[in-house]
Amino acid sequence: MATMPKLDLLDRCAPDEGTSAFCEDVLSGLSQRQKAIPARWFYDLVGSELFEDITRLPEYYPTRTEVGLLKTHCGDVAGLIGEGRVVVEFGSGSSLKTPHLLRQVIPSAYVPIDISGEFLLQSNADLAQLLPDLPIYPVEADFTKAVALPSALRGSAMLGFFPGSTIGNLAPFAATDLLRSMRDTLGHGSWLLIGIDRVKPIDRLIAAYDDAQGVTAQFNLNLLHRINRELGADIPVDDFHHVARWNPSASRIEMHLEAQRDVAFQVEDRLFFMRDGETIHTENSHKYTEQSARALLSAGGWTPRQVWTDAREDFLLILAEAETIPLAP
Ligand code: TRP
Repeated sequence: MATMPKLDLLDRCAPDEGTSAFCEDVLSGLSQRQKAIPARWFYDLVGSELFEDITRLPEYYPTRTEVGLLKTHCGDVAGLIGEGRVVVEFGSGSSLKTPHLLRQVIPSAYVPIDISGEFLLQSNADLAQLLPDLPIYPVEADFTKAVALPSALRGSAMLGFFPGSTIGNLAPFAATDLLRSMRDTLGHGSWLLIGIDRVKPIDRLIAAYDDAQGVTAQFNLNLLHRINRELGADIPVDDFHHVARWNPSASRIEMHLEAQRDVAFQVEDRLFFMRDGETIHTENSHKYTEQSARALLSAGGWTPRQVWTDAREDFLLILAEAETIPLAP
């Protein structure tokens, strides 16, 4: 595949670190045969707010279903793992789901890990109000790599928390790597509470990612606006459409931005052309069955101990224990 040489990209991209990483991802992503831009660039301020709106849409069932499961079952979680663990949340974002867990499992400390320092500060302040006696140790880090936890907590019994079916936004091989690195981060004797969205009829899945009000469309298209704003590009955003498709062989919803006619545009000093109907792939959301979710967790070094689902069987909440590798077959 023809990818741009790295040096060439660096030459074109702004010196400031954040912008240049964005610029490099955009230029190399648009140079691929199937154009693609990493989903993490959705989340500028506008994108993060649109995402919060998505979680409240009538068609977007995952958030409210998962919150329901947490309210109902975190008491059982506490019963299974005992009080006094350190709760470590991966990608805590606005931490809206966390109080339901923390109130019930009675942790000794809470460690939110997020790549956005801003989000961390905000959610800290909110949680400190709700649970004033809980020690909070925020960590600003990219949780897709092993994270060094605060030294004061080393050796404590841990409970990892990874809600939102965020695991589904990674391809299974990357999801497995992430689960393994979480196991390295949390250590021996740790547990993981993870939310995973289930396979279900395609029309409901498509509706959840292509809502009637067009909020998800705005969220997806904001990526193009962001490229125009931050990289001085001239992408004709009105000539693109949000598309959500089900990919049956990969068991995932894909989001794309589809050109509605032949278009040409410039990013930095590079020209790009797209044919009518050609797309930029922007997000995957893999859906699992209970079986495939169990297999994924096991491959990542986690043994499922308890699986909960809602009455409609839309979503899975799974409590898994760090596997100790046996010495012999
Ligand atoms: N992980 C969630 C999901 O796949 C949240 C999410 C990530 C999302 N990117 C998204 C939701 C884009 C809607 C659109 O559903």
